[in-house]
Parts: sequence; C-alpha cells; structure tokens
Amino acid sequence: MNNKIIKIQKKKNKSKIVSLTAYSKNIAKILDKYCDIVLVGDSMANVLYGLNNTHSISIENIIQHTISVKKGVKNSLLVVDMPKGTYSNSILAKKNAKNIMRLTKCDAVKIESNGRNFNIIKELVKIKIPVMGHIGFTPQFKNNFKIEGDSKKKAIKLLKEAKNVEKSGAFSIVLECISPLSSKLITKNLNIPTIGIGSSSHCDGQILVTDDMLGISGFYPKFVKKYAFLDRIIEKAVKKYTREVKSKKFPTIKNFLNG
Ligand code: KIV
Repeated sequence: MNNKIIKIQKKKNKSKIVSLTAYSKNIAKILDKYCDIVLVGDSMANVLYGLNNTHSISIENIIQHTISVKKGVKNSLLVVDMPKGTYSNSILAKKNAKNIMRLTKCDAVKIESNGRNFNIIKELVKIKIPVMGHIGFTPQFKNNFKIEGDSKKKAIKLLKEAKNVEKSGAFSIVLECISPLSSKLITKNLNIPTIGIGSSSHCDGQILVTDDMLGISGFYPKFVKKYAFLDRIIEKAVKKYTREVKSKKFPTIKNFLNG
C-alpha cells in the first residue's frame, strides 16, 4: 500500500484530514503545503468549463489537468475523479483507471457509488489501483442537491452502502451532503477514513472545492465557507490595470525586458 495512504488512514480518530480540489499546477503547489489529499475533481466541469453538471467532462480533460496538478504536488496524496461513463463496467473501468494512473502518475482514483457498482472498486483494487469511494449526493448519478440520510432508516441504508464500499477495498470514502446523524454513524462504524463535504464535523476529514472556498466560483451552497473573496481582489487588480493602460501609466520603461 502507498505510504501516503497509510499515513492518511492512521489519522482516523487522531487528527483531521485536510483536503481540497485543484485543477492546475499553481494552485496545487500552494495546497500541497497544507493538504493531506489534493483531488482533481470532476467539479472542474462546473468550475472551469462552466457546464451545468459534471456529466460531460472527458477523461482527456481530467488527465490533462492532472498532469498540470502533479507538477505542483509533492507531499499530498493525489486523487483523481474518474468521469461519468468511464467505469460503467469492470473492463472499461480497469482500462481507464490504468490510463489515468500511467499518464498522470497520480496516487489513486475516486469513483462515485450508484449503490450497485461495488464490484468495480473490487476489480480496481485487485489490480492494485487504490480507490476512494463517494456516497450521498453523487453528482454523476443524482440531480437533486439535498441532504441525504436524515432519518434513522435512511441512515442505516447509507451505512450499508458505506460498508459495501469499504468491504470492496476502498481506502477512504467521501460523504457528500449527508446528515450529521448519518455521517456520525458511518464514521463510527467504518475502519477507513470518511471525508465530508456538507456532511458535518463528525467526518474524519473535510474537503471543499477550492474555487468555492476562495470565493471565485459563484456557487456557494450553505456548507461552503468562503475563506477569501478572490473575485473582489481580481476585479480590483483588473480595474487598476485597465486604468493604467488607458492613462499610459503602464507600461513604463521599467517594464521593458532590457529596461
Ligand atoms: O468533483 C469534486 O470536486 C468532488 C468533491 C466535491 C468531493 O467530487
């Protein structure tokens, strides 16, 4: 097993696991100083490509961005989302996961659960590809963005799904938009770490989409805390640049290569 994965698994019940998404080298380089896990999420479909959902991002897009991210990541575990449709059967999943691993040199892939595809995790783990699971609101399979597992019965159903993901060999699992009741139950009953997004502090770790927490994506569900307002900072800089170009304050002689 990859040493970085072992280190992350050892954090369960000891210290929280910190994760964020990245789609390019410069951001990844900053995240790498602080994050246990950097995820190249298929959220790039919304965040970078302005699409309404994650469904049509291609494996080529994901690979291209991961090659860039990899240039900035030395210490964090680099996990890559397998896009919708790239793991719908085990032959396809193995072919695509092998390509992602070979071309990007990432550490692991993440696949979303549809409540039935546990054998895909098993098949990938069998060929030594580490897999992170993902349950709850799984954007590749669901359209309704809502809290899941908010009754005892639903919590038990989600726990069963999480247990199946663990039994299939996943090294960790993302819990997206899962009620505190369910995330507590699942985190307590699994041996692998749970990484929450919109799923309360009961999880072993947290993940957010970096562009959301930096205040630049324009999409801020209640579970996102904005740690910066980059949109305002960028606008201020662009405004100043515009002013200076128009007033011929920029460029000056100092901005010539030989100046
Ligand atoms: O695509 C993504 O960014 C994700 C996270 C939200 C977990 O899957």
